Amino acid sequence: MSETPTLFTWEFATDPYPAYGWLREHSPVHRTTLPSGVDAWLVTRYADARQALADARLSKNPVHHSEQAHHKGKVGIPGERSADLMTHLLNIDPPDHTRLRRLVSKAFTPRRVAEFAPRVQELTDRLIDGFAKTGEADLIHEFAFPLPIYAICDLLGVPAEDQDDFRDWAGMMIRHGGGPRGGVARAVKKMRAYLLELIHRKRADPGDDLISGLIRASDHGEHLTENEAAAMAFILLFAGFETTVNLIGNGTYTLLRHSEQRAQLQQALADGDTALLATAVEELLRYDGPVELATWRFATDPLTIGGQDIATGDPVLVVLAAADRDPARFEQPDTLDLTRRDNQHLGYGHGIHYCLGAPLARLEAQAALATLLTRLPDLSLAAEPSELRWRGGLIMRGLRTLPVLFTPEG
Ligand code: HEM
Repeated sequence: MSETPTLFTWEFATDPYPAYGWLREHSPVHRTTLPSGVDAWLVTRYADARQALADARLSKNPVHHSEQAHHKGKVGIPGERSADLMTHLLNIDPPDHTRLRRLVSKAFTPRRVAEFAPRVQELTDRLIDGFAKTGEADLIHEFAFPLPIYAICDLLGVPAEDQDDFRDWAGMMIRHGGGPRGGVARAVKKMRAYLLELIHRKRADPGDDLISGLIRASDHGEHLTENEAAAMAFILLFAGFETTVNLIGNGTYTLLRHSEQRAQLQQALADGDTALLATAVEELLRYDGPVELATWRFATDPLTIGGQDIATGDPVLVVLAAADRDPARFEQPDTLDLTRRDNQHLGYGHGIHYCLGAPLARLEAQAALATLLTRLPDLSLAAEPSELRWRGGLIMRGLRTLPVLFTPEG
């Protein structure tokens, strides 16, 4: 590739890595016009990416966007503005961010996640039961998509009879790339109304769930307001949903295309050795992770990244997928190596916005991949890679469908 590659086309969505390689080498902090019409800087080198993710002069709050009046609704999570759900962790800076993150961390603890492991295993098995006898499945639709939504609903304390509503609303949100934007806004509004009502109910009758924990959490006598609790539940759902769908989807797809390494992982699982599963999930995140670009950041002061001057108010998008293939940081970055140990990838971000749900994501991805490979050992792709379609959204990277074949369970 000798000229500036064309970004954000369907071909690019299928395999963005050659284009990112070109940018890393020739234009590591690259000004581009996004398909939405918004101008932004793309940061593609690992060292620059790490610096930018932790730079306090890059605000998460869209009020700092110089073009904000003109591009309302084009930055951030679809539907969040019209549903009044803007005050969540991914849109705010310290000191508000510090306060909210401290409060949520009191409720969303590693212990709560660890105690949730048997439930995740149960959900995983139940979903695989749904197709294991048929010999074929679309793993996105039947497995990767429902698992995280049911898991987060359970964790939050959404009653079982209401979880299919969430599945529908989440489906609207994930399809927004090709669907009507009004539909997304409606789905997000319904989700918010539901969450507010659930918060009221849990306040009157608390349980052992995360929503009750969020209501109870207090820091120096301070609590979350109901609006803050609703925005927090929303961001946990949003941030924890499509990401995990795509980690399971992209991860399975990558394993199906690397038969030797997949066989090695299957052997380790059969031997009861789970160490490889842990490094494998990290490598799958680095190699083709679900969050292609970190979320929006806006310069609050003039600054320089990788030698490039950035003006106040400019949007900056850190390309995690490009940074995680940077040969200056990773040995043979384009090679999948499930045993890779020196693997400080940026798939979960870096700095104060580092993924709050990483322990849950790891738990779900490890359960999903281990159970799939163990129960359906001869799983194979039922389509040519060139026939598969990627979603083509800006921030997330994931497949629309993942058709597979396998010997039915007897
Ligand atoms: C494979 C799955 C996941 C990946 C790859 C992932 C990735 C990320 C990344 C890259 C960020 C930082 C974004 C930025 O700085 O712009 C982030 C933040 C966040 N993630 Fe995750 N995530 C995953 C799963 C989850 C889950 C399961 C939850 C919770 C249920 C979650 C909750 C959050 C929250 C609340 C934030 C915002 C933290 C803050 O701003 O302080 N994520 N995630």
